Parts: sequence; C-alpha cells; structure tokens
Amino acid sequence: MSQSSPVSRRQAWGSRAGLVLAMAGNAVGLGNFLRFPAQAAQNGGGAFLIPYLVSFVLMGLPLLWVEWAIGRHGGQYGHHSAPGMFDRLGSARWLKYVGVFGLFTNLTIASYYCYIESWTLSYVWHSVAGTFLTEDPQVYFPRYLGVEADSLFAFPVEAFGWFVVTLALNAWILSRGLARGIEIAAKIGMPLLLVFAAILAVRGLSLEAGVDPGVMQSPFEGLNFVWNPDLRGLTDPTTWLAAAGQIFFTLSVGMGSIHCYAAYLRRDQDIALNAASAGWMNEFVEVVLGGTLLLPIATAYLGLQAVQAATAGGSGFALGFLTLPTLFNNWGWFAPVAGAMWFGLLFFAGITSSLAMAQPLVAFLEDEFGTTRPRAVVLFALATLALGSVCVWLYPGGAFDEFDYWTGTFALVCFALGESIIFAWVFGMDRGWAEITRGADLAVPRIFRVIIQYVTPAFILLIFVGALIKPAGAWTDALVSLAGGSGWPLAGDSVIGRLFHTGVTDYRWFTETGAGTPYLIQDLTRVLLLAVFVGCGWLVRQAWRMKASGVRR
Ligand code: PHE
Repeated sequence: MSQSSPVSRRQAWGSRAGLVLAMAGNAVGLGNFLRFPAQAAQNGGGAFLIPYLVSFVLMGLPLLWVEWAIGRHGGQYGHHSAPGMFDRLGSARWLKYVGVFGLFTNLTIASYYCYIESWTLSYVWHSVAGTFLTEDPQVYFPRYLGVEADSLFAFPVEAFGWFVVTLALNAWILSRGLARGIEIAAKIGMPLLLVFAAILAVRGLSLEAGVDPGVMQSPFEGLNFVWNPDLRGLTDPTTWLAAAGQIFFTLSVGMGSIHCYAAYLRRDQDIALNAASAGWMNEFVEVVLGGTLLLPIATAYLGLQAVQAATAGGSGFALGFLTLPTLFNNWGWFAPVAGAMWFGLLFFAGITSSLAMAQPLVAFLEDEFGTTRPRAVVLFALATLALGSVCVWLYPGGAFDEFDYWTGTFALVCFALGESIIFAWVFGMDRGWAEITRGADLAVPRIFRVIIQYVTPAFILLIFVGALIKPAGAWTDALVSLAGGSGWPLAGDSVIGRLFHTGVTDYRWFTETGAGTPYLIQDLTRVLLLAVFVGCGWLVRQAWRMKASGVRR
C-alpha cells in the first residue's frame, strides 16, 4: 500500500543531453546495425535508400513530433504510458483502448528483442574467451539457438541462461529509475557504441584486396552498393513497404516507447528540436555507421552476391553472428578485440532500446495501479521472461519470427495509423500544432502542419493496405491478372497471406508420427499474442474501473 500519489513520485530527466542521449539510445538499436544492412541488401541497396529517406521525412519525422507531443501532453496529467495519454486526447472512452497497442507492442517486442540482446552479450564473452578461434561460428550459432537439435522442441540451455542474465541486467537498471538508471546507461552506452563502431569502420574500410589475406575486393564496393542512390526503387511498392517498415522499427515509432520518454518532460520543454535531434542522430548511426560495418566488411571478403544471399529474410542475423566472427579471424591478434567491439556495440545498442520498451510498462503499473517501482520492474521482468521463454524454446519452430512479424512489423503500422489520425483529427490539428511548437527551440517548417494532417496518415494508410495485400511477384503483373479476371495473386508474406498460410501446400499441425509441425507452433504463437493483447486491454479496463469507483491502491 503506497500512500504517495503518482504525481509526487514523478520522475524527470536529469539533463537535456541525458534526455537526447536516452531518446537516441531508444531509437538506435539492433535495427540500425543488423536489420538496416539486411533490408538494404535485400531491396537493391541504393534503390532502397530513396524510399527510405522519403519515408523518414514524410512519415518518420512527423510521427516523432506527434509522439513527443502526445507524450509530453499526457505526462502533464500524470500518464507515462499510452492508454492514459490517449484517454487525454479527446472525450471518447474508446481512445484509451488504442493505447493498448502501446503496452502490447512494447511487451511483446521486448520479449524477443531481449533474446537477441542476450546473444550479443554471450558473444562478447565468447569473443574474448576465444571460442570462435576454435569453433566455427557457422556451426556454433545454430547449435546455440537449438536449431540443429533433432526436435523442434529442444531447449537451448546456454542461450536461456544468457537471456535470464540479460533480463536481470535490464531490471536492475530500470529499478534505479529514469535519471539514475536509463539516463546513465545511455550516457555510457551511446558514446562507447560510437567509438567501437568508428574503430571497426576504419579497420573495415582499410581492407585491401591483394594485401590483406582473403580479401577479394575493395570494401568500398559494399559501400557503393548501399549508398549509391538508384531511382528504380521509387516505382516498386515492395521496396516502399520494406523501407517504411525499417523507418518504423529503427525510429521506435508506432510503439508507445517514445511517448513514454517524452512524458517525463516539463510542459514548456522543447520537443521540436529534441525530437529532430534524436531522429537525425538515429539516421546518422543507421545510414552512416550501420551502412559502413556489416556490408562493406562482408562484401570485401565474400563478394556482393554471397552477402545478399546471407541476408535472406532481412534480419541480418546470419551476417552478424555467423559471417562476421568468421571474418574477424583474419585479423590476427585483433580478432577477439574486434569481436568484443562488434558484439559490445550491438549490446549497448540493444540494452538502451530494451530499457525503452520496458519503461512504458513499468510506468503503466505505477501510474494506473499505484504499484511501486521495484514491484513494477519485477512484474515486467517476469512477464518478459514468460513470453521470451516461448521465443527461446520454440525459436527453431518459428515462434520468434511470429513475434517479430506480428508485433515488431505489423502492430506498429496499426498503432501509427491510429495515432496519426487521432492526433490530427480527434485532438485536432490546431491544438496539435500548438503542442508541437510550444517551447520549441526550432522553428518547425509550417509545411509539416500539412504533412502531419494529411500526408502522414495517408502515407501510413497506403503502407497498411499495401502490406495487407502484397502480391506474389510484381505489382503490375498482379494488376494485369486482376483486370484479366484471374484474381489477385496474394503473396505468402502479405499480412492476409500469412494469416491464412497462403501458398503452403503441406499445412498441418502434426506429422504422421504425431510430432508438432512449425505450423502448429506458428498458430499457437498467434493465439498467445492475441491473448496478450486482450490481457493488456483487460488491464486497462480494470485500471479505469478502479479509478471510476475511487479505489486507489
Ligand atoms: N528502434 C530500436 C531498434 O532500432 C527498436 C525499438 C523498438 C526500440 C521498440 C524501442 C521500442 O532496434
């Protein structure tokens, strides 16, 4: 039983530098160093870049301002998580339920994201311990994940151990609070990450064919591939989908996480410049540093085709955890150091992001249920452990990928679509613009008022519909097929296609011998995710009921 009201427990950022670093740490994550290069490689390199940058300006940047504004506004009423903030955007009672996304997405992304984060921690250790000098990472990684075991249901013990350690670290930092925990982690992690990335980039770019053993071409070939803009991507909706998806993930927009950090601002504190700074910082780290490490180094040794083949699926895991440690072995005494730096920078990128997923949930329990912080942190850690264990255990069967797709790819678009409409049309653009520009240290160009009101929601709607019905093959061919009466050839990786397992010929839950199939695991994972969503909604309902009846613990 806590006597203090949430307001008297109110926390705040220690300094402006700390705030911007924490926000940048929120955005800069595994997405910048693994997902970006892989997505770029899968979508034509320079052809990906232009839709990516356009998506940043028309969707990413406006959403950042919107989310900072919603967050700071909600924070003034003592709400640091999405349900309460959305409740305050208008008088309708359903608004708070849109905020359920802001709990659900953070919880479920944290569950699989912390697992990846734990690989990086484990790999720092294994790099220093010299594991990859004696063991081939190509063999090691699948075994570590349990992919090579003879059952889909084998339990990877070591991986689970590191996962628990990672969660415990997160919980410890969270329990120290905003300024003494999250902010300090960002102040240590972000600079180290930059230093490690710079050292590796210089080392990588100085590789020379004919001089360094094993190097077959200049690393600049890899750089050219990503950075050389190619207009062809502009006309391909599939490239646009991938580019917009990457913008969502990397900026942490559509998640409820930015809202939460922004809720700890004072009423008149600048958001215009802070949001833009953190956003641009993320873009710098992603395009410049993220573009300079994985692809150029791997391309120098293996050539572009092999590198593209290794990024199939678009996650960058194979390049990051299999290929790179192998290549580092060419670097002599520097190999363990390079490994520790690479996985160390991934770890710092990861933990400053996972803290940002956790804080909204911790704040939700604190604000809406009056839970004390230590207890809220423990509850978060236990929930993440429970859900994350499903990802750890059923990784080979695809539970992890289901989490990543439905929560880390699809749910973001839903939430962003909802919030962009609610902000501009329910809260209203007059109030919205006033909220964004109050206390601003940067004159936001007025054109963004129009963009936020019309362009961004329309853009997200297009992305949403495009993702739903993405066709197999080219869009033009699909249109021809539709016009010719042969129907729409739905892609297996469209939202609808995934939902109904389109194109799967051997769909069944059990094999003849009674063993579970990946489809069983996929479908059960979806049921689980749905249940989590409903559970989050139920918690919101309970919280508001308690408030209405005046019960306050
Ligand atoms: N933006 C982070 C990344 O690039 C991921 C993230 C998701 C962070 C959700 C916070 C909340 O990896």
